[in-house]
Amino acid sequence: MLTESAALSGTRLLLGVSGGIAAYKSAELVRRARTAGAQVRVVMTAAAEHFVGAATFQALSGNPVRTGLWDPAAEAAMGHIELARWATQVLVAPASADFLARYAHGFGDDLLTTLLLATTASSAVAPAMNQQMWANPATIANVDTLRRRGIAIFGPAAGDQACGEVGMGRMLEPEEQVQALIGLQVGDRLAGRRVVVSAGPTFEDLDPVRFIGNRSSGRMGFAVAEQAALMGADVILVAGPTSLATPPRVHRVDVRSAEEMMRGVLDNLDGADIYVGAAAVADYRPVAPRPTKIKKQAEVIELKLIRNPDILATIAERRERPFLVGFAAETDNVLHYARGKLEAKRLDMIAANQVGQLGSGFDSTDNELTLLWPDGQLALPKASKQELARRLLEQVMLRLEGAER
Ligand code: C5P
Repeated sequence: MLTESAALSGTRLLLGVSGGIAAYKSAELVRRARTAGAQVRVVMTAAAEHFVGAATFQALSGNPVRTGLWDPAAEAAMGHIELARWATQVLVAPASADFLARYAHGFGDDLLTTLLLATTASSAVAPAMNQQMWANPATIANVDTLRRRGIAIFGPAAGDQACGEVGMGRMLEPEEQVQALIGLQVGDRLAGRRVVVSAGPTFEDLDPVRFIGNRSSGRMGFAVAEQAALMGADVILVAGPTSLATPPRVHRVDVRSAEEMMRGVLDNLDGADIYVGAAAVADYRPVAPRPTKIKKQAEVIELKLIRNPDILATIAERRERPFLVGFAAETDNVLHYARGKLEAKRLDMIAANQVGQLGSGFDSTDNELTLLWPDGQLALPKASKQELARRLLEQVMLRLEGAER
């Protein structure tokens, strides 16, 4: 069995917290970054201290928190230049409009801005502010300046804001920021690669108002698409009916039935290096969907169903085929059935998971997977679907690059 190290091990993260209500979320960010293997040190601006206490960050990071330039004891322990050198990665979250302005203009009038001037580490900001402030031409220009300087901009997202408004400016969730940090580390592992992913359920219509569906949320497949894009791939996501937002830089094709999904996948397969079939494709569809609503009359009615085409098996028959990854969701004998599917569908890899338990599988944000390929397997312990997706893609790349050598 292979072993794996945590995604951010070796990362020394200097987290800058500026003044904004989203600062409370940065406590969770510290916890998650540490779980992913990073060492974390926190620097707070004076405004940030109005929102969260330094003790919270100190307890969660396991390191003293710095709040000012003029603390002789702290400077004696680790001076600000040393701190700037210590970091391999800087992230300012939340980054307020005022902070972005001062960063963009090269201020060095407090500890955080001074550190940013002094560091050579990869730097990122996660803006968080009222939507009008985000849309203000001054903020737009400041963000543009930072981006041109090579500073990564994480988000922001759209949604409900603390001020009661709805719009762009909400800080990315801590887990999304951790994934974005991992994205900066994995860089361009999939650059120049084309990845096609199917995700979500399929709906097989019985009549204009009813369908046969399943409980797939689409989250696992969306996570694969998101991570592949973060790793530099050109990604096409063929999605069954779901309410999930399209991940950044992913081209999405919406479909409904298994037959539409098959068409959506095959139409986009030219030049694909990897196909990940994460969709829960209906095995059967009604033989003859009714053009009008089926009326409630007889006590018993029969539904006649016909087998749907198997997308993965169809692609596997092609002479020029991408690296094929399937998913096997099972309630029992998971590995046994998964290996059977790997062989029957002639796949290059299958990701097996147990469904029907609480906290894992279909509708949850976490999952547990075992990857199987013809001559090996690797268990990936319980983690977010994003993290599992990244590890899955890393394993795909190991095998794909090995085969190309
Ligand atoms: O055979 P089973 O449906 O359990 O296999 C699951 C895997 O096969 C998933 O990767 C799913 O996306 C894929 N599949 C497919 N076409 C189907 C049914 C399943 O590609 N018609």
